[in-house]
Amino acid sequence: MRIDILTLFPNMFEGFLNESIIKRAIAKESVIIKLVDFRKYSKLSNNQVDDTPYGGGGGMVLRIEPIYDALMDIKKEDPDAKVILMTPDGIPYKQEIAVKLKDLKHIVLICGHYEGFDERIRSLCDMEISIGDYVLTGGELPAMVISDSIIRLLDGVITDTSLVNESFNDKLLDYPTYTKPQEFMGMKVPDILLSGDHAKVDAWREEMRKKKTKERRPDLM
Ligand SMILES: C[S@@+](CC[C@H](N)C(=O)[O-])C[C@H]1O[C@@H](n2cnc3c(N)ncnc32)[C@H](O)[C@@H]1O
Repeated sequence: MRIDILTLFPNMFEGFLNESIIKRAIAKESVIIKLVDFRKYSKLSNNQVDDTPYGGGGGMVLRIEPIYDALMDIKKEDPDAKVILMTPDGIPYKQEIAVKLKDLKHIVLICGHYEGFDERIRSLCDMEISIGDYVLTGGELPAMVISDSIIRLLDGVITDTSLVNESFNDKLLDYPTYTKPQEFMGMKVPDILLSGDHAKVDAWREEMRKKKTKERRPDLM
């Protein structure tokens, strides 16, 4: 899979791309991530990419031309690339969207910044995504959130067993997990997990998933 990220702040992605599972996924070529600094597409003096809003008001608004030109370069190479805008008024991001996006060969994530972007940029996009009901300074963190949630689902990136009972897979949250020591400050690992009876462990975990979901996220059930 290929993910292109249009951003004015490519350095923000350094840690994200160079640590842990994402770093390994890139090394194994499970994913190719290309950062596109769309400031390079500006034809204005000082590589300006934003301007004041028509009608007045505070903040600077991203202009459409550099984003359009950056997208056209990508589309020349791959007309089927799906373009996704990071925006607080987009559709709320969920695991089920990550599951659908992971099957696409090529996505392009556009990161807004400042006050936002010229409304006409929406016409260049196939989809608009919000990662939650709060406003961030830019689309870089949302682009990392979306990329991360997709990449970990790609074949061979993490062991399949880790993905089976995960939260949100089938409208249930994950079951509780424990590791050594068997007892810590009076808190014990449930006996059933030490029993060696795999059928009973599976049944207990399923019961715990339902109980936890009912208590914490009844809306999912
Ligand atoms: C400061 S925000 C603009 C907020 C905009 N004026 C509004 O009130 O909806 C700048 C950029 O950050 C990104 N952004 C901020 N919050 C986001 C969220 N919850 N989900 C996705 N993108 C977000 C978007 O790309 C947005 O254009």
